[in-house]
Amino acid sequence: LERTGYALAWVTLSDKGAAGKRTDESGPLIGRMVGETLDLSLVQGFIIPDEPLRLKGLLADLSLVQRFDLVMTTGGTGVGPRDITPESTLAVIEKRLPGYERAMTAASLRKTPHGAISRAVAGTLGETLIVNMPGSPKAVAECLEPLLPTLRHTLEKLQ
Ligand code: MTE
Repeated sequence: LERTGYALAWVTLSDKGAAGKRTDESGPLIGRMVGETLDLSLVQGFIIPDEPLRLKGLLADLSLVQRFDLVMTTGGTGVGPRDITPESTLAVIEKRLPGYERAMTAASLRKTPHGAISRAVAGTLGETLIVNMPGSPKAVAECLEPLLPTLRHTLEKLQ
């Protein structure tokens, strides 16, 4: 079958967002930014609470069952008691991508010293690329920017 475009899922980790107490701008921003770089046939968004079991189950389902090409999470990468995104991602990925993580950290530190607080993880599960990003729209924009030029090649290599 000819590929018509990539399937992107964004996942926002936010207790308040999942409870409807906060509007999520970061997830839709991921969709817009990636859509400007890659030809996307599908963009689907999820907002879930900061619960390890929910996130691990969702990442496994989106990757291995629904076979999304790209899954990008936002939020829960810091040191707060409810920040569980990196551990949950590490628990399901098969190949870690330290270069992605370093690229995000390097770009972040050029913008703010607080970039050192994010523990965002990147890696692959099956034929899916999974990337964590911090929660704020500003951080998402700054972390995605250095990754956009390599996304297509990474996804091609993954298949
Ligand atoms: N990275 C970039 N590029 N820009 C930012 O503003 N904010 C930092 C950091 N990474 C930030 C950033 C802050 S203040 C925190 S607390 C951590 O990401 C973790 O954010 P999270 O818990 O929302 O994932």
